[in-house]
Amino acid sequence: MVDIILGLQWGDEGKGKIADYFTPQYDVVARFQGGPNAGHSLEFEGKKFVLNTIPSGIFHKNTANVIGNGVVIDPVRLKEEIARIVSECPDYSDRLYISKKAHLILPTHRVLDAASEKSKGDDKIGSTLRGIGPTYRDKTGRAGIRVGDILATDFKEMYEKAKQFHLQQIAFFQFTDFDLEAEEIKFFEAIEFLKKHQLINSEYFINDAIQKGKKVLAEGAQGSMLDVEFGTYPYVTSSVTLAGGVCSGLGIAPKHVGKVFGIFKAYCTRVGGGPFPTELNDEQGEMLRKKGNEFGATTGRPRRTGWLDLVALKYTCMLNGVDELIMMKSDVLNGISEISAATSYIIQGEKTLEVPANLCTDEVHAVYENFEGWSEEMSGKNGFDGLDSSFKNYIQFIEKYLHAPVKVVSLGPERDNTILR
Ligand code: GDP
Ligand code: IMO
Ligand code: MG
Repeated sequence: MVDIILGLQWGDEGKGKIADYFTPQYDVVARFQGGPNAGHSLEFEGKKFVLNTIPSGIFHKNTANVIGNGVVIDPVRLKEEIARIVSECPDYSDRLYISKKAHLILPTHRVLDAASEKSKGDDKIGSTLRGIGPTYRDKTGRAGIRVGDILATDFKEMYEKAKQFHLQQIAFFQFTDFDLEAEEIKFFEAIEFLKKHQLINSEYFINDAIQKGKKVLAEGAQGSMLDVEFGTYPYVTSSVTLAGGVCSGLGIAPKHVGKVFGIFKAYCTRVGGGPFPTELNDEQGEMLRKKGNEFGATTGRPRRTGWLDLVALKYTCMLNGVDELIMMKSDVLNGISEISAATSYIIQGEKTLEVPANLCTDEVHAVYENFEGWSEEMSGKNGFDGLDSSFKNYIQFIEKYLHAPVKVVSLGPERDNTILR
């Protein structure tokens, strides 16, 4: 069976922390989409790690970690990422498996990302500039290079051909701000490093595990509102971030999908451009950013902050078929006297409970329900029952609105700051 854990908002919900926390219950943890645009933070025993491409189960000895076919891999970033974790888990490569069908991010994909963003001016997406969009574009355009290709004798020729194709596009953008030579040296060093890893047909690996009755956890990257189909297009990422993406991103049949765990923050954040109906452009928003340390794990960019958006959350629960909810960062709201959550939108004078087809063009006014806050000290030391009643009210309202139970509450970044219900 394959359970899924994914973000229900605009990313950075805390997927890394929870995937790591759940890992002891699973034999395999697998990433199915995205790439080094992701930054998944894990904290345990006073140590902190940020993973970009490697699944968040890597720190557990008995779990295999698979980078699936749906992921795009930048070998240079992967090498750097491994350098950050190798002292903690020197034997990481025994349990890391990489799909031969995962597409490679080339140095020119990154340049293209930068060129494309620059050409958009004020309308830029706010991409992480990791080359994600151009790499997925080549994948669907049938012009990509895959991990398995690095073992072919004509890999260099494939690379040259792709590079020339990209240089023409870069010239079209009249973009000159890059040093390809230095990047290429790093790239080919990283390719040699990648060859030392277990490059596999991951669809067989995962289906084999399922046949043997093993438990697989698919770890989403980004968030459902960044999904290329249903997110706030065009201010989205270039992959299917929803539960539906697990089947194509790992090569498994829908009948093997088990539970879907949806993660959300007790408030809301977004990094990059695009609509955000509950955004707080005021002191309260600034306070959430400070208290929640809302700065990108990958890029360090300040995240935009706002109240919980239950309209959007209900939409993403529907799209994913969420069975259980996991609420993160409730501690950031400790001590705030009144908390709000959007329960409907007003668009052109009409009230609606639906996310409109184009959140980017419609002027959306969020309508709020207000809640009494909880105490500054709420720590969770006495389990769920010991938590403040106003906090439990907030959770109950959310559960009723979303028709799904909140099964895990996170009250801090460490593994231990987690309460199961
Ligand atoms: P991901 O991309 O979904 O894995 O999330 P990120 O790692 O980008 O961002 C989540 C941030 O919140 C990280 O810095 C985590 O260490 C931190 N975090 C996770 N859970 C909690 C929590 O319950 N409370 C607080 N205060 N921080 C948390
Ligand atoms: P995790 O997995 C938050 C956002 C970018 C930008 C848009 C497109 O850590 O939750 P891209 O680089 O994919 O072309 O950027 O998507 N974005 C993320 N925001 N968390 C992420 O990942 C993100 N990955 C991409 O900021 O707005
Ligand atoms: Mg993140």
